[in-house]
Amino acid sequence: MKESVTYNGLTFVPYITAEQIKERVDAIARRIEEDCRGKQPLFVCVLNGAFPFASDLFRSVDMDAEITFLRLKSYDGMDSTGNVKRMMSLSEDIAGRTVIVIEDIIDTGRTMQKLIADLRELHPADIKIATLLHKPDALVVDDVKPDYVGFEIPKKFIIGYGLDLDGLARNLNDIYVIKEKEQN
Ligand code: IMP
Ligand code: MG
Repeated sequence: MKESVTYNGLTFVPYITAEQIKERVDAIARRIEEDCRGKQPLFVCVLNGAFPFASDLFRSVDMDAEITFLRLKSYDGMDSTGNVKRMMSLSEDIAGRTVIVIEDIIDTGRTMQKLIADLRELHPADIKIATLLHKPDALVVDDVKPDYVGFEIPKKFIIGYGLDLDGLARNLNDIYVIKEKEQN
Protein backbone atom coordinates (compact mmCIF):
# COMPACT_ATOMS: atom_id res chain seq x y z
CA MET A 1 0.00 0.00 0.00
CA LYS A 2 1.28 3.48 -0.84
CA GLU A 3 1.58 6.24 1.78
CA SER A 4 -0.59 8.46 -0.39
CA VAL A 5 -1.79 8.75 -3.98
CA THR A 6 -2.71 11.86 -5.97
CA TYR A 7 -5.29 12.22 -8.76
CA ASN A 8 -6.45 15.48 -10.32
CA GLY A 9 -4.46 17.36 -7.67
CA LEU A 10 -6.28 15.62 -4.78
CA THR A 11 -4.42 13.53 -2.20
CA PHE A 12 -5.78 10.24 -0.88
CA VAL A 13 -4.50 8.20 2.07
CA PRO A 14 -4.79 4.47 2.93
CA TYR A 15 -8.21 3.36 4.14
CA ILE A 16 -8.95 -0.35 3.50
CA THR A 17 -6.23 -2.84 2.59
CA ALA A 18 -6.45 -5.53 -0.07
CA GLU A 19 -6.25 -8.13 2.72
CA GLN A 20 -9.22 -6.64 4.55
CA ILE A 21 -11.17 -6.54 1.28
CA LYS A 22 -10.41 -10.20 0.59
CA GLU A 23 -11.57 -11.22 4.04
CA ARG A 24 -14.95 -9.51 3.59
CA VAL A 25 -15.36 -10.75 0.00
CA ASP A 26 -14.83 -14.33 1.14
CA ALA A 27 -17.23 -13.90 4.08
CA ILE A 28 -19.93 -12.61 1.70
CA ALA A 29 -19.26 -15.53 -0.66
CA ARG A 30 -19.86 -18.02 2.20
CA ARG A 31 -23.19 -16.35 3.00
CA ILE A 32 -24.28 -16.40 -0.64
CA GLU A 33 -23.45 -20.11 -0.87
CA GLU A 34 -25.66 -20.70 2.16
CA ASP A 35 -28.54 -18.44 1.07
CA CYS A 36 -28.62 -19.53 -2.58
CA ARG A 37 -27.86 -23.24 -2.29
CA GLY A 38 -29.42 -25.12 -5.24
CA LYS A 39 -30.59 -21.92 -6.97
CA GLN A 40 -27.86 -21.30 -9.54
CA PRO A 41 -27.88 -17.52 -9.02
CA LEU A 42 -27.18 -15.01 -11.76
CA PHE A 43 -24.68 -12.37 -10.64
CA VAL A 44 -25.29 -9.00 -12.27
CA CYS A 45 -22.17 -6.87 -12.10
CA VAL A 46 -22.82 -3.15 -12.32
CA LEU A 47 -20.07 -1.65 -14.46
CA ASN A 48 -17.78 0.10 -14.34
CA GLY A 49 -16.97 0.26 -10.64
CA ALA A 50 -17.98 -3.21 -9.46
CA PHE A 51 -15.76 -5.25 -11.77
CA PRO A 52 -12.94 -6.08 -9.30
CA PHE A 53 -15.41 -6.91 -6.51
CA ALA A 54 -17.60 -8.98 -8.85
CA SER A 55 -14.58 -10.83 -10.18
CA ASP A 56 -13.26 -11.70 -6.72
CA LEU A 57 -16.69 -12.52 -5.28
CA PHE A 58 -17.75 -14.65 -8.25
CA ARG A 59 -14.54 -16.66 -8.11
CA SER A 60 -14.87 -17.09 -4.35
CA VAL A 61 -18.34 -18.68 -4.42
CA ASP A 62 -18.14 -22.45 -4.60
CA MET A 63 -21.41 -23.24 -6.39
CA ASP A 64 -23.00 -23.27 -9.84
CA ALA A 65 -23.56 -19.62 -10.72
CA GLU A 66 -23.59 -17.34 -13.76
CA ILE A 67 -22.45 -13.77 -14.23
CA THR A 68 -23.51 -10.99 -16.56
CA PHE A 69 -22.85 -7.28 -16.78
CA LEU A 70 -24.69 -4.03 -17.17
CA ARG A 71 -23.48 -0.51 -17.17
CA LEU A 72 -24.85 2.49 -15.30
CA LYS A 73 -23.47 5.97 -14.81
CA SER A 74 -24.51 8.52 -12.21
CA TYR A 75 -21.37 10.11 -10.80
CA ASP A 76 -19.57 13.14 -12.13
CA GLY A 77 -16.25 13.85 -10.39
CA MET A 78 -16.96 13.56 -6.66
CA ASP A 79 -20.70 14.19 -6.85
CA SER A 80 -23.62 11.85 -7.30
CA THR A 81 -25.72 13.51 -10.02
CA GLY A 82 -28.95 11.71 -9.15
CA ASN A 83 -29.46 11.25 -12.85
CA VAL A 84 -28.81 7.57 -13.49
CA LYS A 85 -28.03 6.65 -17.09
CA ARG A 86 -28.23 3.11 -18.36
CA MET A 87 -25.48 2.61 -20.94
CA MET A 88 -25.86 -1.12 -21.57
CA SER A 89 -28.73 -3.52 -20.89
CA LEU A 90 -29.12 -7.16 -19.94
CA SER A 91 -29.31 -9.76 -22.66
CA GLU A 92 -30.24 -12.66 -20.34
CA ASP A 93 -33.78 -13.71 -19.48
CA ILE A 94 -33.94 -13.26 -15.70
CA ALA A 95 -37.58 -14.32 -15.22
CA GLY A 96 -37.79 -16.79 -12.34
CA ARG A 97 -34.08 -16.49 -11.55
CA THR A 98 -32.31 -15.58 -8.31
CA VAL A 99 -30.43 -12.43 -9.23
CA ILE A 100 -27.57 -11.02 -7.14
CA VAL A 101 -26.75 -7.44 -8.04
CA ILE A 102 -23.10 -6.64 -7.43
CA GLU A 103 -22.23 -3.00 -6.74
CA ASP A 104 -19.04 -1.32 -5.64
CA ILE A 105 -20.74 1.22 -3.40
CA ILE A 106 -24.17 2.45 -2.36
CA ASP A 107 -23.99 6.17 -1.72
CA THR A 108 -27.28 8.06 -2.17
CA GLY A 109 -28.93 4.78 -3.19
CA ARG A 110 -30.46 6.29 -6.32
CA THR A 111 -28.55 4.06 -8.72
CA MET A 112 -29.62 0.92 -6.88
CA GLN A 113 -33.22 2.11 -6.53
CA LYS A 114 -33.53 2.66 -10.27
CA LEU A 115 -31.79 -0.59 -11.12
CA ILE A 116 -33.94 -2.69 -8.77
CA ALA A 117 -37.13 -1.11 -10.18
CA ASP A 118 -35.97 -1.94 -13.73
CA LEU A 119 -35.00 -5.51 -12.81
CA ARG A 120 -38.33 -6.18 -11.05
CA GLU A 121 -40.13 -5.54 -14.33
CA LEU A 122 -38.31 -8.58 -15.72
CA HIS A 123 -39.88 -10.81 -13.02
CA PRO A 124 -36.91 -12.47 -11.34
CA ALA A 125 -37.78 -14.92 -8.52
CA ASP A 126 -35.62 -12.96 -6.09
CA ILE A 127 -33.23 -10.01 -6.15
CA LYS A 128 -30.40 -9.76 -3.66
CA ILE A 129 -27.99 -6.84 -3.41
CA ALA A 130 -24.30 -7.25 -2.61
CA THR A 131 -22.27 -4.08 -2.21
CA LEU A 132 -18.66 -3.88 -1.12
CA LEU A 133 -19.19 -0.47 0.47
CA HIS A 134 -22.17 1.31 1.91
CA LYS A 135 -22.46 4.93 3.09
CA PRO A 136 -25.66 4.73 5.22
CA ASP A 137 -25.47 8.46 6.12
CA ALA A 138 -25.58 9.43 2.44
CA LEU A 139 -28.72 7.42 1.64
CA VAL A 140 -31.58 9.55 0.30
CA VAL A 141 -33.99 6.72 -0.55
CA ASP A 142 -35.64 4.50 2.04
CA ASP A 143 -36.29 1.33 0.07
CA VAL A 144 -32.72 0.26 -0.73
CA LYS A 145 -31.48 -2.35 1.70
CA PRO A 146 -28.39 -4.32 0.68
CA ASP A 147 -28.38 -7.99 1.69
CA TYR A 148 -24.59 -8.23 1.75
CA VAL A 149 -22.29 -5.36 2.74
CA GLY A 150 -18.51 -5.50 2.87
CA PHE A 151 -17.92 -2.29 4.83
CA GLU A 152 -20.18 0.44 6.18
CA ILE A 153 -18.29 3.72 5.88
CA PRO A 154 -18.88 7.41 6.63
CA LYS A 155 -19.77 9.93 3.92
CA LYS A 156 -16.25 10.36 2.56
CA PHE A 157 -14.98 10.11 -0.98
CA ILE A 158 -12.89 7.00 -1.60
CA ILE A 159 -11.05 5.50 -4.57
CA GLY A 160 -9.40 2.22 -5.58
CA TYR A 161 -10.49 -1.40 -6.17
CA GLY A 162 -12.86 -0.27 -8.93
CA LEU A 163 -13.82 3.09 -7.45
CA ASP A 164 -12.69 6.04 -9.52
CA LEU A 165 -12.11 9.75 -9.62
CA ASP A 166 -13.09 10.75 -13.16
CA GLY A 167 -12.08 7.35 -14.52
CA LEU A 168 -8.77 7.06 -12.68
CA ALA A 169 -7.63 4.96 -9.66
CA ARG A 170 -9.78 1.91 -10.41
CA ASN A 171 -6.63 -0.20 -10.71
CA LEU A 172 -5.44 0.35 -7.13
CA ASN A 173 -5.60 -2.90 -5.14
CA ASP A 174 -6.31 -1.10 -1.87
CA ILE A 175 -8.91 1.55 -1.08
CA TYR A 176 -7.85 5.12 -0.26
CA VAL A 177 -9.84 7.97 1.28
CA ILE A 178 -9.57 11.64 0.44
CA LYS A 179 -7.30 13.51 2.83
CA GLU A 180 -9.48 15.23 5.47
CA LYS A 181 -8.74 18.86 4.58
CA GLU A 182 -9.47 18.20 0.88
CA GLN A 183 -13.01 16.87 1.34
CA ASN A 184 -15.52 19.59 0.47
P1 IMP B 1 -25.53 6.45 -5.74
O1 IMP B 1 -26.51 6.38 -6.86
O2 IMP B 1 -25.43 7.83 -5.16
O3 IMP B 1 -25.79 5.43 -4.64
O4 IMP B 1 -24.11 6.23 -6.31
C1 IMP B 1 -23.63 5.05 -6.67
C2 IMP B 1 -22.44 5.17 -7.58
O5 IMP B 1 -21.69 6.37 -7.34
C3 IMP B 1 -21.50 4.06 -7.27
O6 IMP B 1 -21.81 2.92 -8.03
C4 IMP B 1 -20.15 4.65 -7.62
O7 IMP B 1 -19.89 4.45 -8.99
C5 IMP B 1 -20.30 6.12 -7.34
N1 IMP B 1 -19.73 6.50 -6.02
C6 IMP B 1 -20.39 6.73 -4.87
N2 IMP B 1 -19.56 7.06 -3.86
C7 IMP B 1 -18.31 7.03 -4.38
C8 IMP B 1 -16.99 7.25 -3.82
O8 IMP B 1 -16.78 7.54 -2.63
N3 IMP B 1 -15.97 7.10 -4.70
C9 IMP B 1 -16.12 6.78 -6.02
N4 IMP B 1 -17.33 6.55 -6.57
C10 IMP B 1 -18.42 6.67 -5.76
MG1 MG C 1 -20.73 2.08 -9.63
